[in-house]
Amino acid sequence: MTDTTSNQMWGGRFSAGPDAIMEAINASIGFDRRMAAQDIAGSRAHAAMLAATGVITDSDAEAIGKGLLTVLSEIETGTFAFSTALEDIHMNVEARLKEIVGEPAGRLHTGRSRNDQVATDFKLWVRDQLDAAETGLIALIRALLGQAEAGAGWVMPGFTHLQTAQPVTWGHHMMAYVEMFGRDLSRVRDARVRMNESPLGAAALAGTSFPIDREMTATALGFDRPAANSLDAVSDRDFALEFLGVASICAIHLSRFAEELVIWSSAQFRFVTLSDRFSTGSSIMPQKKNPDAAELIRAKVGRIFGANTALMMVMKGLPLAYSKDMQEDKEQVFDAADNWMLALAAMEGMVRDMTANRDSLAAAAGSGFSTATDLADWLVRVLGLPFRDAHHVTGSLVAKAEARGCDLPDLTLADMQSVHPDITAGVFDVLGVENSVNSRMSYGGTAPARVREQIARWRQAL
Ligand code: ARG
Repeated sequence: MTDTTSNQMWGGRFSAGPDAIMEAINASIGFDRRMAAQDIAGSRAHAAMLAATGVITDSDAEAIGKGLLTVLSEIETGTFAFSTALEDIHMNVEARLKEIVGEPAGRLHTGRSRNDQVATDFKLWVRDQLDAAETGLIALIRALLGQAEAGAGWVMPGFTHLQTAQPVTWGHHMMAYVEMFGRDLSRVRDARVRMNESPLGAAALAGTSFPIDREMTATALGFDRPAANSLDAVSDRDFALEFLGVASICAIHLSRFAEELVIWSSAQFRFVTLSDRFSTGSSIMPQKKNPDAAELIRAKVGRIFGANTALMMVMKGLPLAYSKDMQEDKEQVFDAADNWMLALAAMEGMVRDMTANRDSLAAAAGSGFSTATDLADWLVRVLGLPFRDAHHVTGSLVAKAEARGCDLPDLTLADMQSVHPDITAGVFDVLGVENSVNSRMSYGGTAPARVREQIARWRQAL
C-alpha cells in the first residue's frame, strides 16, 4: 500500500509519499517486528532516564512508560496493526504510542535516534539468543555425558580417513564432541561479554546536547557500560558477525556429528539405533527408518554459514557511521538463530534417545587389523626392535592375515615366528581390543579410566 501523504515521522520536508517500490525496499517491519519487546524495553529505559535527568517531566515519562506497556501487550496478543508505511518497528511502536498517550509520545525521541535505537534493540535480541544458545549447548553436553557414562569402556573402532585405525571407547568418542561443544559454549560466553555495551544515547552518530545519563540506560538494560564512541556505537555490527561466526563453528561441529550418526545408523554399520521419535519412514520402502533429523542438522550449516558470509559482505567497506545497508543484518541473524537453536535441540533429543549397540561396536572394533599398532609397540617394548623395524614386521603380519582372510589374533604363533623368530605367545595379550584401549592411559587417551576422569571433570564444570 502506498501512502499518498508524506511520512508522519520524518515527512516534514517532503511533499509526496514514497513510491510503492520505494516503500517495499525500504520497509523492515515485515521482519524487525521480532524486536518489539527489545524496542519497548529500550524506549522505557530511555524515557525513565529522560525524566531522571530533567529532560522531560515525570508525568510525561510515566504516560510514555505505561503506554509502551499497552503497545507491548497489543503486539503480544496479536491485536497490533503493523503498518508498512511506518517502515520499521521503531516508528510503528512510536506512532501507536502517540495514539494511546497523545502529546507526551512526541517527547520520547529526545536525545536519541533510530540509529542508536536499532543498534540497541538488535544487541538485546542477539544477547537473548546467546543466552538461548548457552542453554541449548549445556543440554546437549549433558546428553553426551549421559551417553559417555553409559558406555565409557565399550570398545569401538577409531578411524582416520574413515578407515579403521585403532580401537577406542564409545565414551571417548562421545567426549570428543563434549570438548567441541564445550569450546562453542566458551565462545558464546566470550561473545556475550564483549558485546555487552550499550549503544543507546549515541543518538544519530555524534551524541547529543541533552544532559542524558547513558550509564543509567545501560544499567537498566543489563549492559555492563555504555559504548565509548558514538560513531562506533551506531555502526558496529561486530556482535552480529561474532554471533554468526560462533554459530557457524558450532554448526560445523553439529554437522560432523550428524554425519557420523547418519553413517552409524546405517544397516552396514549398526553402531547406533536412533529412536522412532527422531526418525522418519519412507512412503514406498516399508523397511526404511531414515535419520532425517541428522541429515537436516548436517545441512543447517549451509544457511548459517551463508548468513555469516552475507553479513560480512554487507558490512564490508561501509563508511562511518550508519548506512541503511545495515538494515540487511537482521533477517540473516534471525534465520541463523532460529535454525541454530533448532539444530541444537534436535541434536540433544537425538543423542538423549539413541541406543549405542555395544555388540556391533565391539565386533567392528576387532576387525580391520585395529590392533596392529599394539603389535608394533609390543615388538619395540619386549623385543627391543626400533619402531621402524617393528612397523615393517607388523606390516608383513597384516599382509599374511589379509591373504588368509583372518584378523591378527587369528594368526598362529608359528605364523608370527615365520616373520620374526623371537616373537613369543605373550604377543596375543596385546592383540585384544580391550587390552588395547586399557593400555592407552596417556593423558587424554582412550582408556576407560581416563574417559571417566574426563566425564567427572565435565560434570563438575557444569
Ligand atoms: N529500520 C532501520 C534498520 O533496521 C532502523 C534505522 C533507520 N535509521 C535511519 N536513519 N534511517 O536499520
